[in-house]
Amino acid sequence: MARIIGGLTTSHIPSIGNAVPNEDELRNDPYWKPFFAGYPPAREWVQKMKPDVAVVIYNDHGLNFFLDKMPTFSIGAAAQYTHADEGWGIPTIPPFRGDADLSWHIIESVVEDEFDVTTCQEMLVDHGFTVPMSLFWKGNTYSDVKVVPVCINTVQHPLPSPARCFKFGQAIGRAIESYPKDIKVVVLGTGGLSHQLDGERAGFINKKFDLLCMDKIVNDPEALTRYSIPELVELSGAQGAEFILWLTMRGALGGKVRMVHSNYHIAISNTATALMVIEKAA
Ligand code: DHB
Ligand code: FE
Repeated sequence: MARIIGGLTTSHIPSIGNAVPNEDELRNDPYWKPFFAGYPPAREWVQKMKPDVAVVIYNDHGLNFFLDKMPTFSIGAAAQYTHADEGWGIPTIPPFRGDADLSWHIIESVVEDEFDVTTCQEMLVDHGFTVPMSLFWKGNTYSDVKVVPVCINTVQHPLPSPARCFKFGQAIGRAIESYPKDIKVVVLGTGGLSHQLDGERAGFINKKFDLLCMDKIVNDPEALTRYSIPELVELSGAQGAEFILWLTMRGALGGKVRMVHSNYHIAISNTATALMVIEKAA
């Protein structure tokens, strides 16, 4: 049977995607140093654990879905996913290999569990998906890992509540663990932490709340499911609501977990960046 070996979270700011190819030079740059310093232990964990598949819970920022058609929950079921983000010129990183068989298994299982997802047999992926993959698989060495993109709307209100996302994650966890093939699966939750990109509160960051989220997501995720979306926006900024993606990842891990590694840094661009490596407790 398939086994979930752990969870990875990271912020997914587009400028990181631009910096990643120059990491070896930027590692000692005062702006980037505290950010990149967090990643070597996470990459060592990935290399040691050797996941066969990464289920990537992320949000699309207007590339694959726009405001006219915005599914709340969607899952990719393609053999390949191409990066086609807009911000820094058309990217040239290698495409991602899909695991369409696992995608369909997850889709069937979560629909049975009353989550009526949009199924995408073609899907472009943006920085919400690609930046984390390029960070955890340095040099874009992700050709050995297949992917299943799980996309949640964090852009066009109404957004699904933290409680709903946690339950969606639990349904994804049940789906993965009922997959008959003997594979190791890592679940990624991308985005966050506190940030607001526009409006009167542009640049808003809330370190106290971010650190609370990083603690509770390990030890007491149910406490985080009690926030409403307006409360989450007030506490972590309009785009800080991307935290629901982390909470979905945590739902998929289920039960007790332990933190293996974390990093928190203010700020790349306008965002409090954070990284966590979480393992299921034995
Ligand atoms: C930034 C952060 C994001 O999560 C995003 O999707 C785009 C930009 C930023 O901080 O610049
Ligand atoms: Fe984002």
